[in-house]
Amino acid sequence: MSGLFLTFEGIEGVGKTTQLQKLVTWLSERNVPVILTREPGGTALGQQLRSIILDPSTRFHSKYTEIMMFMADRLEHVAAVMEPAIREGKVVLCDRFIDSTVAYQVGGRGLPADFVAGLHSLLPLRPDFTVLLDVEPEEGLARARGRAKLDRFEQETMAFHRRVRAQYLEIASSEPHRVTVVSTTQLNVDAVFDRILEIVTPILNRSGHSL
Ligand code: TYD
Repeated sequence: MSGLFLTFEGIEGVGKTTQLQKLVTWLSERNVPVILTREPGGTALGQQLRSIILDPSTRFHSKYTEIMMFMADRLEHVAAVMEPAIREGKVVLCDRFIDSTVAYQVGGRGLPADFVAGLHSLLPLRPDFTVLLDVEPEEGLARARGRAKLDRFEQETMAFHRRVRAQYLEIASSEPHRVTVVSTTQLNVDAVFDRILEIVTPILNRSGHSL
C-alpha cells in the first residue's frame, strides 16, 4: 500500500471544505489511513502566516510578498506534514495546493507563470490527483459572502474571481490526467459527493487502499 496525495481546488464558496470533511469521514469509516490538511495553515507557522495573509487590513508593498508567504507556508507544510504522512502510506487530502497559487497569484494577480513555476520547483512532490470543484463566481461568492467576516480574498472584485476561475479551468485542460473538474452548479452536497466518490474510488483502489 503506497501513500496517495489528493488535492481539492476551486474558487471561494464552491464547497471544498464540506466535501473534504465528508470524504475524510467516509475513508476513516473504511479504515483507510487518512489525514486532512489545508493551505495556507497546515502547520503552526502556517497558521500564523494564514492569519496575516487573510487579514483584510494587511497591505503588502511588493507584489511578490504575498506569494512568498504562501510558498513559506507550503515548504514547511510539505516537509513537516505531507511528506512524512505519504511515506507512512497514508492518504493525504489537502484543501488547496500549487494550483491555488497558479490560479490566484498568476491568474488573479498577474504574476509571471514561469516565476511561479520556478518557485514550485523547490518542492519535492506533486499531487497524484486533483479534484477541481467548479461554480460560477457569482454563485460561489454569494455563498462565501453569506458567511462570517470577509477575508482579504473574498473582498476582491468579481473580475478577480473570474480570472481565478478561468486559470483553474486552463490548468484542468492542460493536465487532464491529473485534474478532474466537477461542476457543482445545480447539484446538492450529496450529489457532488457521489460524483467525487466515483472519481476517487478507482484511484484509491489502484494505490492499494481497497474499499
Ligand atoms: P480559505 O479560507 O482557505 O479559502 P477557502 O475556504 O475558500 O478554501 O482561504 C485561503 C485563501 O487564500 C483563498 O482565498 C485562496 C487564497 N490562496 C491563494 O491566493 N494562493 C494560494 O497559494 C493558496 C493556497 C490560497
